[in-house]
Amino acid sequence: MISEIVNSLQVPLVSYSATDPTLSAQQFPYFIRTAQSDSYQMAAMADLVDYYGWKDVIAIYIDDDFGRNGIYALGNELEKKTMKISYRLPLPVEYDSRDITDTLNKSKIFGPRVYIVHANLDPAFRIFTIARELQMMGSDYVWLATDWVSATLDSLSPKYQTSMEILKGVVALRPHTPDSVRKTAFRARWRDMQTKGLTKSGLNTYGLFAYDTVWVVARAIDRYLNENGNVTFTFSNTLYDEKAEGMRLGQLKVFEGGSLLLKKLLQLNFTGLTGQIYFSPDRNVPSGGYDVINIDQREIRSVGFWSNKTGLSVVPPENIEGDHRSYTLEDQKLRNVTWPSGKTEIPRGWVVADSGNPLRIGVPNRFSFTEFVMENHSSHKFQGYCVDVFNEARNFVPYDIPHRFEAYGDGNSNPSYDGLVKMVANNDFDAAIGDIAIVTNRTKVVDFSQPFASSGLVIVAPVNNSKSSAWVFLQPFSAELWVVTAASFVIIAIVIWILEHRVNNDFRGPPKRQLATMFLFSFSTVFKKNQEDTVSPLGRMVMVVWLFLLMVVTSSYTASLSSILTVRQLSSPITGIDSLIASNWPIGYQVGSFAHSYLLESLYVSPSRLIPLGSPEEYEKALQLGPSNGGVAAIVDEQPYVELFLLKRTQFGIIGQAFTSGGWGFVSNIFMCIYVSAFMTGAAKEIVLA
Ligand code: SER
Repeated sequence: MISEIVNSLQVPLVSYSATDPTLSAQQFPYFIRTAQSDSYQMAAMADLVDYYGWKDVIAIYIDDDFGRNGIYALGNELEKKTMKISYRLPLPVEYDSRDITDTLNKSKIFGPRVYIVHANLDPAFRIFTIARELQMMGSDYVWLATDWVSATLDSLSPKYQTSMEILKGVVALRPHTPDSVRKTAFRARWRDMQTKGLTKSGLNTYGLFAYDTVWVVARAIDRYLNENGNVTFTFSNTLYDEKAEGMRLGQLKVFEGGSLLLKKLLQLNFTGLTGQIYFSPDRNVPSGGYDVINIDQREIRSVGFWSNKTGLSVVPPENIEGDHRSYTLEDQKLRNVTWPSGKTEIPRGWVVADSGNPLRIGVPNRFSFTEFVMENHSSHKFQGYCVDVFNEARNFVPYDIPHRFEAYGDGNSNPSYDGLVKMVANNDFDAAIGDIAIVTNRTKVVDFSQPFASSGLVIVAPVNNSKSSAWVFLQPFSAELWVVTAASFVIIAIVIWILEHRVNNDFRGPPKRQLATMFLFSFSTVFKKNQEDTVSPLGRMVMVVWLFLLMVVTSSYTASLSSILTVRQLSSPITGIDSLIASNWPIGYQVGSFAHSYLLESLYVSPSRLIPLGSPEEYEKALQLGPSNGGVAAIVDEQPYVELFLLKRTQFGIIGQAFTSGGWGFVSNIFMCIYVSAFMTGAAKEIVLA
């Protein structure tokens, strides 16, 4: 409101304490400030939250412009780093103990345990006093505070500093001012005044800002007077408002030299107690960064610094040399903090909302392929690959979550996995583990962890697995073809001899030699290595035709021999999912699997063609019977099951490649609490790493 008035009166307003990040030079051209905008403070706070690896925070703030705008800026800064304010708890401007108690009690049932308190000076620290009474300043809890805590603490006179006990474990920010001789001397003068009883209050950073601000104004006025010489005011009715006639705003005078004084202010550049002072184009002083302080054993400990160029560090920003842009996340460092629990171990920052109820985790009680997961009939314990993965992952996660496994399915047939996912979505289970495929339909209603095993759908069908014998090289040609080929060599030998022996010396000589030359010539054409040349024109023509034929014969021989040696011959005409769908044969699928709905809804296979099969034995029987005898032409199932099925059976095989890509993951309820999912995701990541 004051900014509005000074705007009309053209009187520059210099504030040393208005930190609201939304106050802008564009809206209020006569407003300038010597304190840092809270947008920096909130960036520092977000970096702090990020540094400790928390994801969700609870914000407690005063419900006025300063509080709301500050928390809005905090929300933005957190969002940039994929963190968020899960709960915003405003306190009335004139809050009392009751308001605080209600607000804090309300927050006890929430999962996050990281509180960020953005309030005004309060020498009694009522929020923390009540939090302590409500046992909210113990282990698990993290209390971060904006600079109101440091400002209050610093301005308390030493005899009131016993209240520091209340703040044990709190981490707060304090605007950073570089150390200097002048600052130390000023502090000493202030302490003198305190001992002489001239002031009771201690000196906080805003006191230093105030001191510098007086100099800012004094210097600017000095320069103004040097240039202009006089200060004049005129009447103007810009502020006249009929409704506010009683306030007689129209009687206020407008400062004629206002814009010149503003110019002088903006031109200043000098060193004050708080560092170098000059105004950027947005009329703020450049951010000097923040100290990160921790209240421990009745003393304020500095654990590090934050600046907008380097982030968190243990070295004051003014001492960091070199290129700030090369400062990376790995360089972020702080000294150890003593948390409210009294320990230096970083608190987890969240709890399962109601630890009285352990998580109900659904586990499929499988009938077949029990290697993956099943309930042991005698001990009623859950076992199998997926349970092992879960337990192993739990060992990697440094905290415990109370949980209880509950069987899903009677163990007499495989349960419906879609049903299991639905139960998690309906809150009948908080989570589910097992060989649960991550498929689109399911991801719409539940959260999945990272996949811990890959599994795509494949087709299994009978294959001819004839073992290759030593005579396999004869297989490409039938017996007739071999005879015809052999006869052709003989015929070519004779024909070439007839055409050549009269004109070509190579084909002459004693009959024995002529016979040998004749057949050697013919057979060596296979290797294109004849020693004798053909000289007669007819002989050459015959050779050209013969070599062409030979090329065709040898290439088809090589091609079919390699296909025999590498590709197992399919005994059914199914070559992939397209030919399977196109045929009208029955297709088998595993009872309970998503394969059924996938075939129906995504591949539009008629339901009458789908045959449920419950076990590997049923798979085998159905495939052996074949489509025309009440069996199936092929089975569509996930790769891990199929590989297990094929382990002991060589008469069947996987046709082609997996035609869907997918994986198995653990499931958690989207609406229940994000932490289960964080846990599951964390766990699965660990598995991948392991
Ligand atoms: N893995 C399958 C599914 O999730 C069950 O066999 O549907």
